[in-house]
Amino acid sequence: AADQLRYDGQVIVVTGAGGGLGKAYATFFGSRGAKVVVNDLGSSFKGEGNSTKAADVVVDEIKKAGGQAVANYDSVENGEKIIETAIKNFGRIDVLINNAGILRDVSFKNMKDDDWDLITKVHIKGAYKCARAAWPYFRKQKYGRVINTASAAGLFGSFGQANYSAAKLAQVGFTETLAKEGAKYNIISNVIAPIAASRMTETVMPPEMLANLRPEWVVPLVAVLVHKNNTDENGSILEVGGGHIAKLRWQRSSGLLLKADDSYTPGAILKKWDKVVDFSEPQYPSGPNDFMTLLEESMKMGSSDKGETLDFKGKVAVV
Ligand code: NAI
Repeated sequence: AADQLRYDGQVIVVTGAGGGLGKAYATFFGSRGAKVVVNDLGSSFKGEGNSTKAADVVVDEIKKAGGQAVANYDSVENGEKIIETAIKNFGRIDVLINNAGILRDVSFKNMKDDDWDLITKVHIKGAYKCARAAWPYFRKQKYGRVINTASAAGLFGSFGQANYSAAKLAQVGFTETLAKEGAKYNIISNVIAPIAASRMTETVMPPEMLANLRPEWVVPLVAVLVHKNNTDENGSILEVGGGHIAKLRWQRSSGLLLKADDSYTPGAILKKWDKVVDFSEPQYPSGPNDFMTLLEESMKMGSSDKGETLDFKGKVAVV
């Protein structure tokens, strides 16, 4: 159709594109005019072993359908090599989809340093290395689109996934900062928390549920976010799965303001705890400055019974 979103002439890097969600992104963009770098280490979902087959199969599929693609087999920990593949083969990079990932589920009680280190290396360092290598190109051409991949496990926590949860919420903070730093160069960064049937979820969800969570149903949202026409959604957190798409944001209670004098005690906080947790007049902060503004406003109002000026620079009594 003439009104299809297209990506002609664009170079799109998809990490972990040998299966699951990554494969769904790669084949879609390959069918819509993009030149795709299909990165995959070809490891197990626990991060063991490696193989060129995973990426090769997807490249073949894209080419057979008339698209353009090239394989890369490096770990995302060596992101610069993946971006180099894009530059060498296609001369540019327009979109980076940080999607590669593994699991090392284990109760926190039994977690080993290796479980923690491997997960943070692949998810956090991997996303960093790929974005860092793409960044100079994005800035120079004043154009770039980034998708990072979080998870409900990161947003809300999840039994047996302390390592994965930490690495996944890291994607949110990472994305928020890239969004802020990239904005004036038309570099747009968003983070998704997907849910889809893949080898990662096939052992933890019943088949009838998996049937309703096709990876292909995550693709259209990502397609919208990385399209050149998206200049509005930047630094957004989006949940997507089973055909449902929703945006998440922070909510802050109206809060309690205590005077910075000797009546500011633990007991005083306890007495007014209901104010701390009162969400009846919520705020939706989107940057650190929002809190400073709030403090300035509060100080102007002067809440001290004794009419004292509030001083947040140290006059807080620890009683
Ligand atoms: P998947 O296991 O099918 O795909 C991940 C791909 O990444 C695999 O092909 C794997 O070989 C590759 N990979 C692993 N380590 C790599 C490395 N160091 N360098 C390059 N490639 C590497 O899993 P799925 O479900 O498609 O996951 C994709 C992303 O979505 C992951 O980041 C995952 O954490 C995230 N996610 C998935 C959810 C789901 O419901 N499937 C839920 C929440 C997040």
